[in-house]
Amino acid sequence: MAKTTIQDFLKKKSEGRKITMLTAYDYPFAQIVDEAGIDAILVGDSLGMVVQGLDNTLPVTMDEMIYHTKMVSRAVKNAIVIGDMPFMSYQASIEDAVRNAGRFLKEAGASAIKLEGGAEVAEQIRAMTRSEIPVMAHIGLTPQAIHRMGGYKVQGKTEEAAKRLLEEAHIIEDAGAFALLLEAIPMKLAHKITEELLIPTIGIGAGPHCDGQVLVLHDVIGMFERFVPKFVKRYANLKDEALKAIRTYREEVEKGEFPSEEQSFK
Ligand code: KIV
Repeated sequence: MAKTTIQDFLKKKSEGRKITMLTAYDYPFAQIVDEAGIDAILVGDSLGMVVQGLDNTLPVTMDEMIYHTKMVSRAVKNAIVIGDMPFMSYQASIEDAVRNAGRFLKEAGASAIKLEGGAEVAEQIRAMTRSEIPVMAHIGLTPQAIHRMGGYKVQGKTEEAAKRLLEEAHIIEDAGAFALLLEAIPMKLAHKITEELLIPTIGIGAGPHCDGQVLVLHDVIGMFERFVPKFVKRYANLKDEALKAIRTYREEVEKGEFPSEEQSFK
């Protein structure tokens, strides 16, 4: 299988084929996601919640993102690796934004970056694109804006908010983003944005009409239980499997059944 590129994203949209994307944060899971034939792996700042056990994504740092992205890049043969810009790595200045985005490509082996925000980050998108850094933008529910939004709430529900999101989508496309992630917005609005834009849309909680879909890996495989959003579909329950295996190991050690002769040297 050939390495996926951002041109493949555009080709898939033009051919009406769906784009598949999942998060991953380390070598073993990135290897599995890649082997499954997923088009793109997002090293999301959601790792703050599902790997680091934080309440939200705000404390995640650039160095942590680089550390995780390196592990993912090392594992991946075919998928495109996208590094997620953490809170305050791109908001304060254009220079910060370009330098930090560049680190994902230069140090961590990513082929593109993702950032949250609409019109307010259009200049950052323009500057990164000019610096040959492909950008995926992210609007709707943007977890780094949790305090402004007052929680993880569906966005774009009123006519005015929907109109604004549609405008932001066009601003982002004009700024040069190669794709747009739509999170937790009504499916009719996501459909309209998808129809109007030339670049592909990737939905999470945005209904079936987006050009592609993304989910957080730990939600998909049942490794994150603190809360399960309505838009998540759990395809496996690895936590229960792991728990069963570890409990059995504990019991066997306690009973003196492990190790047996089979696991011992003569
Ligand atoms: O950080 C993340 O994992 C995300 C999700 C919306 C996919 O941005």
